[in-house]
Amino acid sequence: MSGTGLWGGRFAQAPNEVFLRFQESLSIDARLWREDIAGSMAWARALCDASVITKDEAKQLEAALEAIGTEIHEDEGVIARSGAEDVHSFVEGALVARVGALGKKLHTGRSRNDQVATDLKLHLRGLVHRLDLAARDLQLALVELAERTHDLALPGYTHLQRAQPITAGHHALAYVEMLARDRSRLADAEERMDTCPLGSGALAGTAFPIDREALAEDLGFGGGATRNSLDAVSDRDHALELTFVASTMLLHLSRLAEDWIFLATQEAGLIELSDAVCTGSSLMPQKKNPDALELVRGRAGRVFGNLQALLVLQKGTPLAYNRDFQEDKRLLFDALDSAIDCLVVTALVVRGVRHREDACRRAASGSYQNATDLADLLVAAGVPFRDAHERAGLAVRRALELGVELEHLPGADRAKHLAELTGDLSEQLGLAAVLARRETIGGTAPARVREEAAQWRAALEDEKQDPLE
Ligand code: ARG
Repeated sequence: MSGTGLWGGRFAQAPNEVFLRFQESLSIDARLWREDIAGSMAWARALCDASVITKDEAKQLEAALEAIGTEIHEDEGVIARSGAEDVHSFVEGALVARVGALGKKLHTGRSRNDQVATDLKLHLRGLVHRLDLAARDLQLALVELAERTHDLALPGYTHLQRAQPITAGHHALAYVEMLARDRSRLADAEERMDTCPLGSGALAGTAFPIDREALAEDLGFGGGATRNSLDAVSDRDHALELTFVASTMLLHLSRLAEDWIFLATQEAGLIELSDAVCTGSSLMPQKKNPDALELVRGRAGRVFGNLQALLVLQKGTPLAYNRDFQEDKRLLFDALDSAIDCLVVTALVVRGVRHREDACRRAASGSYQNATDLADLLVAAGVPFRDAHERAGLAVRRALELGVELEHLPGADRAKHLAELTGDLSEQLGLAAVLARRETIGGTAPARVREEAAQWRAALEDEKQDPLE
């Protein structure tokens, strides 16, 4: 079916061909076919319960819809070949082709406006589930890395200047925390969108005595029926919220990408990315480029743009439905598909990374990253922190002049700046001691990181795992 199948009666002139192609949404919404069929079956049952159609008619409609589903399942190409305007017209056209006049009864009291709102919410359930599973898998990959590297020292940076040593495991677990917040935002958004718009009609509600609560339950909406038809057909908050969640996830992944692209440079030389997620140069034979991470970083930009587009798309649209909303799906699906792809690819990168352990330890030991600990040692010996900071700073300046580590300052300089400290500083300012001191909750000490990684593993393994459909 093509052209004006669902609405031609009022029109004296056929639509312009160019305009018809311009307004189609089948190329984007074909993926809603399962939900359109499920929603249509539920609507047939609701019409029957409201005595609008007979039991027998409802049974025939359901059987035909089921058969259409089987046919599409075998060859999804039938949708695109139909030339229908959108997935809703396609399903209805296929229904009429199968059961004739009876198929024309299905749309009683229903509009594509409440239909598309319902289909989309149903479809998002599956996408949200896949997004959450991909995020959890990346969390697991990072926890595995944290277990392996809980005691491997790395330089920690602020302002991209070496600051204090951290452990590689601590760095990995930072991203596990971010993903946990992302997943919690996802669960919130999912709960908020769990209401059923079907039965709202085009904008004013349906004139047939549909039991909307039963319909909502039939379609598995835990929050029941939407309470205002105008809002129900024009609400796209869930598209915004989920695109925001995808954006935040990608923001986090792009920071991980940036951290690791830097650690993998020849300048830093602290990690080696797996060949499996890098590419070479068509001209320079020696090159190995971190393309997977760069694409994740770049994809984030695209999805942030989608979020902005979804906001602007809805701004100033009058109640209720406007065709502008058709543009939402391209943006929303791209955001969620991209987030899933990026999570999966990042997990590949994480599982294949190798730390250059000697270089990591060397880099974590230099650049006076133990200066804070020197000040802290003075504090422990009774010096007020502000004075201790000043004195440790002077010691750093002197050590820089001499080109030595703080713990190797000559006796005279030690006597001048660090008189309160007795004994060999090598151990107290050594990497192991500096790391081990930070054992409070949230700290980078190896023992703490091992403990945190174990807790994360237990929590992630404890999660009830619904398999993908
Ligand atoms: N394809 C439309 C969309 O995605 C749904 C159809 C509503 N069309 C209409 N003219 N009211 O939003």
